[in-house]
Amino acid sequence: MSFPPTTTPHAPARQPDTWPALLVTGGCGFIGSRFVERWRAAHPAQPVVVLDSLTYAGRPENLAGLWGPALHLEVASITDADAVRRVCDQYGVGGIVNFAAQTHVDQSILGSLEFTHTNVLGTHTLLEVARERGIHLHQVSTDEVYGDVPAPHHSLETDPLTPRSPYAASKAAADHLVLAYHQTHGSSVTVTRAANNVGPRQHLEKALALFATNALLGLPLPLYGDGLQQRDYMHVDDHCAAIELVLRGGASGGVFNVGTGLELSNRRMAQLVTQALGLPDAPVRHVSDRPGHDRRYSLNTDRVQALGWAPDFTPEQAVLSAARWYAANRAWWEPIRRSEAFAAYYERQYAARLGAS
Ligand code: TYD
Repeated sequence: MSFPPTTTPHAPARQPDTWPALLVTGGCGFIGSRFVERWRAAHPAQPVVVLDSLTYAGRPENLAGLWGPALHLEVASITDADAVRRVCDQYGVGGIVNFAAQTHVDQSILGSLEFTHTNVLGTHTLLEVARERGIHLHQVSTDEVYGDVPAPHHSLETDPLTPRSPYAASKAAADHLVLAYHQTHGSSVTVTRAANNVGPRQHLEKALALFATNALLGLPLPLYGDGLQQRDYMHVDDHCAAIELVLRGGASGGVFNVGTGLELSNRRMAQLVTQALGLPDAPVRHVSDRPGHDRRYSLNTDRVQALGWAPDFTPEQAVLSAARWYAANRAWWEPIRRSEAFAAYYERQYAARLGAS
């Protein structure tokens, strides 16, 4: 089964700059906060409302210095329909960019009901409120919905979705709902499916942030399996630039892959991290593999390029630049590494693996 193809990636330009307010859900997290920062800089007079439950990756400190009369924080879950309705009405929201999600595959292996709740029910709730009010919804999705992609294929937006982790399955379900609302209700929607992001303020559970901070703490880098899995590590700024373009010019009902089209093995990524930090050797420790670990993701990005997008960073440049940020910003991540929540996760995820290797 495949999605109904969109006839063209282009559309008469939407004008998000003229919306009375933009709602960014999950705007206190890694990618969402970067998107908000960039949007605020480009549209200083337009109110932006961040809706974030602050329960997992969201940290208001990520937008320190920006909160004020044109940047509002509303603390609520995207599954809370009353809260979403109130926020949309109060601020006159004209469009929603949905970053709010549970996003870590390893967490979804440890327990995944929360993933279905937030990623599926939450997106469904936004769709309902957006439908009632005629608001555009942009859904931030992932290359993981395509599942493992054997070389030399590059996933097309029309490929069937074959997710293989509970996380990826929840994102695929959300994509289906978004596109179904477009077909059934004529809802104005767009979707981007992005490759692995790296950059400042990433959740420390993710591979690059974990490897960089482990290396800076003198700890080993736990590489799952043989470390030859291929990922397209793209810089978060390139991803945000693509979302901005799609929000303006992407056809409603359109899906747009976003990635550099280049690949790195995780082993090479680990080497680049230690190189960026000036360490002589990657203190890599091969540990037991992630169950159901997708070997490769790779995207065909012709559609988003047709909108005028091109990445500024190769995966190598993105990894080097991101790793240097963690070296220069210890004050951001050291308290998180010291937190009880992170310690408990690290123990659960790595104690047996690192002890046994
Ligand atoms: P991750 O950042 O969790 O992103 P995703 O699973 O969405 O691709 O992991 C990136 C890659 O790094 C993935 O192939 C799994 C691997 N990985 C490790 O080898 N060790 C680790 O400790 C982590 C967290 C990930």
